Amino acid sequence: MRDLREYRRDFPILQATVHDKPLIYLDNAATSQKPLPVLETLDTYYRTYNANVHRGLHALSERATAAYEAARRKVAAFINAPQPQGVIFTRNTTESINLVAQAWGRKFLTAGDVVLLTEMEHHSNIVPWQLLSQQIGFQIRYLVVREDGTLDLSNLDRMLDGVKLMGLTHISNVVGTINPIAQIVDAAHRAGAVVLIDGAQATLHIPVDVQALKCDFYAFSGHKTCGPTGIGVLWGRVDLLEAMDPFLGGGEMIESVTLEKTTYAPPPNKFEAGTPAIAEAIALGAAIDYLTGIGMERIAEYDEMLSSYALERLGSVPGVRVLGSAPQRSSAFAFTVEGIHPHDLSSLLDTHGVAVRAGHHCAQPLGRRLGVPASARASTAFYNIPEEIDALVDALHEVKKVFGYVRP
Ligand SMILES: Cc1ncc(COP(=O)(O)O)c(C=O)c1O
Repeated sequence: MRDLREYRRDFPILQATVHDKPLIYLDNAATSQKPLPVLETLDTYYRTYNANVHRGLHALSERATAAYEAARRKVAAFINAPQPQGVIFTRNTTESINLVAQAWGRKFLTAGDVVLLTEMEHHSNIVPWQLLSQQIGFQIRYLVVREDGTLDLSNLDRMLDGVKLMGLTHISNVVGTINPIAQIVDAAHRAGAVVLIDGAQATLHIPVDVQALKCDFYAFSGHKTCGPTGIGVLWGRVDLLEAMDPFLGGGEMIESVTLEKTTYAPPPNKFEAGTPAIAEAIALGAAIDYLTGIGMERIAEYDEMLSSYALERLGSVPGVRVLGSAPQRSSAFAFTVEGIHPHDLSSLLDTHGVAVRAGHHCAQPLGRRLGVPASARASTAFYNIPEEIDALVDALHEVKKVFGYVRP
């Protein structure tokens, strides 16, 4: 079995330098890096069998279609979906959530209904519901986030009263909290709600099993899962997908069209109007092969080890405050440094070759709840190593010197 550290060699970008320093890439929550098999899959597709899918009766089109549908089966196996038919290719998590809002919400929500979200959501699981609520008039309720970055579940049953749909993130992109999804889904189902999970921060870090989670919809992004940009996934229970109206109309999603009326293809095609991101879907399949080749359990174990190391090292720097302290957490660490604005911090870390994100991380309500409107965020992946955490910590000490920060 290859040592996990050896997988670094598969990521050409990890050899890059930034400002003449070796790149220390700690912005994996924003997007992950891509291993060679993914890059090669894109290249091979365009060089040797670029063709449109599902339409041509020629060899290239048949090959492209077979590879595209094989990718769908790989995604299904990756998240343990009961059948590939429930896997819809979208552009990203954001589009997957908008699809649920527009195709399920528009049909099944009415004024007086309630949608339950949480204060920890990324804007992409808040704004689509607000947009729809403005049109339909349903109420949006939010589960509160506690100081430690966990959800307050003490009054979950009461919060679920009258709820038709609950949407929540599997893992927070700010405080790294891994939410107890199966427990929440059980409660939501008892209350009669359908549950949508935003898995954007999960698929790179932990095994995902939609049947064990018992959720109804699961959304994630290819680019955060070692795949290319431009490809995302919405998995949905097939009976729900069948009952939903289409999201976008056009070619490929129809059964028959007359000048008066259209009937639709069954899912997943009903939700894949127009030419899809063919190369990207196939390359996402390659990313999934790559990740499953390493083993998601193994990745999760390594993640836990690296996260504890990062927490310990960051915690040892005077003036650094790491946000959230959930017992179950993944590898996104938002933090502040006393006396230094996160934007300055991130720009100065960059001069040391260290890439972190700064700002509100597209989760303004969470920042407000924690009383920290902006923070820096380091986020690791399985191809990061403890020495890179050391480099971050060394760079933090250097940045503090620039600001003349001395602990009072
Ligand atoms: C928790 C979470 N949800 C949704 C998204 C949106 O993902 P995308 O921009 O790929 O649609 C992100 C991106 O950072 C995220 O972290």
